Amino acid sequence: MKNSIQIAIDGPAAAGKSTIAKLAAEELGFTYIDTGAMYRGITYKALERHIDLENEEALTQLLLETLIELKPSNEGQLVLLDGDDVSDAIRSTLVTSSVSAVASHASLREEMVKRQLKMAESGGVVMDGRDIGTHVLVNAQLKVFMSATVDERAKRRQLDNERRGIDSDVNQLKKEIAERDKMDSERQASPLIQAQDAIYLDTTNLSISEAANHIIQLAKERMS
Ligand code: DC
Repeated sequence: MKNSIQIAIDGPAAAGKSTIAKLAAEELGFTYIDTGAMYRGITYKALERHIDLENEEALTQLLLETLIELKPSNEGQLVLLDGDDVSDAIRSTLVTSSVSAVASHASLREEMVKRQLKMAESGGVVMDGRDIGTHVLVNAQLKVFMSATVDERAKRRQLDNERRGIDSDVNQLKKEIAERDKMDSERQASPLIQAQDAIYLDTTNLSISEAANHIIQLAKERMS
């Protein structure tokens, strides 16, 4: 019986990956790593500095000079950028609509993957993103590709926004989610695709705890 494994969770925007992955990690006593937060962090800094989001070299250089830390806390995972807490700022509409452009650059992704591999070095880990099963934790003992219908994902994002005091139109959210999915799936550098050895999990009709329990069950099977 192993007591730790690597779990890779990928899927499109707003499929519930972060919430479900975090819950499963807590239950298993594993480290949770939200790689989307890392791409959001560098996007936030690039926007602050007015760097052209098409400029791969400038963005990669910026990343090389930036410390991104993910820290667990009572209020959830904190994202620190050079020591500053940007956990809320990286969820803004502007960052959300800009992040796919930044994440499309191959050399920037290469540096991100290096950092993610380092973060996953010790003990059990649940890592979520778009390329985890295909390019980061390629030998993960459990790979899950999580999705839900666009309608359901837009509804969930709207609820999420409501909780954070942001009013949003569900049709607009649907459009934005579909656009981001398209950019993330059609880019050249490690596009969003299901790894051949990943299990497909449709969360459209599952609650958060049902989906997390499903992953925990699979993880326990892989550990025994
Ligand atoms: O999971 P999220 O919505 O916070 O991710 C933000 C963006 O970052 C997403 O549109 C695509 C990109 N991303 C990526 O390209 N690769 C990852 N491993 C994680 C996120």
